[in-house]
This record gives sequence, C-alpha cells and structure tokens, in this order.
Amino acid sequence: MTPSLGTPRVHLRRVDSTSQRARDLAAAGAPHGTLVTAAEQTAGRGRQGRNWVAAPGQALLMSLLLREWPALLPLAAAAAVAEAVGETAMIKWPNDVLLFDRKVAGILAEGRPQAGWMVLGIGLNVAVRREDLPVELRNTAATLGLPPSAIEPNLARVVERLQRWLSAPPAAVVAAVRARDALAGREVRYGDVTGRARGIDDHGRLLVLRADGGEDLLDAGEVHLTPAAP
Ligand code: BTN
Repeated sequence: MTPSLGTPRVHLRRVDSTSQRARDLAAAGAPHGTLVTAAEQTAGRGRQGRNWVAAPGQALLMSLLLREWPALLPLAAAAAVAEAVGETAMIKWPNDVLLFDRKVAGILAEGRPQAGWMVLGIGLNVAVRREDLPVELRNTAATLGLPPSAIEPNLARVVERLQRWLSAPPAAVVAAVRARDALAGREVRYGDVTGRARGIDDHGRLLVLRADGGEDLLDAGEVHLTPAAP
C-alpha cells in the first residue's frame, strides 16, 4: 500500500511557487506525500518554461513531494485531476485538464529522479473569475466557477484521487486517459508538424498521423489543437 499523500502539509498565504517550496523541502529530507499549498503564488511555474497565473485566493495551488512514483506519472495525475473535476473533464495529452476545450487545470511534474524525488505541481481554477484572468487567457482558460470556499474540498478530492491513480496499474491509467482523450481524431500541430491525433498507445505515447503521411509516437512535449475551420 502506497504511503498516504497530503501529510505533512504546509499552507502558505503567499509564496513564489509551491513547487519551488516542495523542491526545497525535498532537498531538506521531507517525507513522501508532503503537500505544499498556497493562496497566492508570485512566480507560479508552468510547463515549457511558462508562468502559471492565478489571482490570489481563487485557485487550488498545490505541490506534492513524491519519493516513489509510477512510470506514467503525468498521465496518472491527469486521470486523477480530471476525475476530481467531474464527468465532463477531458485530458489534452499529456496532462492538461479541459472543460469544453478550455484549460481548467495544469500539471507540472519535475524533479531529480536520481536524487529520489519528484514534485507534482497542480493548479486548478476552482474560483477563478474570468475578469481576473489576464486578457490573453480569457479565451483559453476555464474555471469551475465555484466560490473560494470550494478550494479546500477540491483539494481533498484531488488528493484522494491521486492516492488511487498513482498506484493504479499502467493499463488502467492509459484506459482512463483514453476515455477522456480531448485530442482523439483532431488536427494537432507541434513544431513545424501538423497531423491528426490517433489516440494513446499502451505506453502512454500520443500517436499522430502526420499530414505528410508518416506517423509519430510522441512520448513528451506539447501539442496544440488546430482551431476548427469556421
Ligand atoms: C501547466 O503549464 O500546465 C502546468 C501548470 C502547473 C501550475 C501549478 S500551480 C501549483 C504548482 N506550483 C507551481 O509553480 N506550478 C504548479
């Protein structure tokens, strides 16, 4: 049985990044399952070197220190967060959680496997108000539209789902992600390549049929949805 996640917990009113704090705690020897949460981040980190922006007190901002983790950690985390969000949540490979094609949660797994730790950072727009989003995110971000008092219950749900999905068999994780695959059959682009997403293989890789007729199996990185023609 995997040791329980979420304890000890450090909650901060304001921090640069919960993931940075969790990394510092990892280096200081904190145990598996240590949870860092915050009401506000001043330098939230996103994937691909981007920032993660959320107005104070409106989002679930959490980072979990893991000292053991599954091979398909990003997908398992996406399955957990999507399940916590609800039936309509979809997963944009590898681990964006979408509602109606807009991103409601982002997940960033980073760490030092050789030093024996990973930090799983999750941002979930629980109570984010559209008008408080930066203009450039207003058409691509989603929110659960709940009051700030819903952040703690959502944290509990996410941690409970993570507990289950981080110890689930890989085949179950892949099946859960396939069942919510936001990219299946859709046009995607990555770098200079365009193609059509053809599902997720048994190793969690995204299969793409390229426009030039070839096939790619992506095991990391990011793809973009090509906007539907008007
Ligand atoms: C993404 O770009 O999709 C990943 C975003 C991850 C954001 C969360 S918010 C809590 C944790 N702390 C950070 O600095 N980043 C993650």
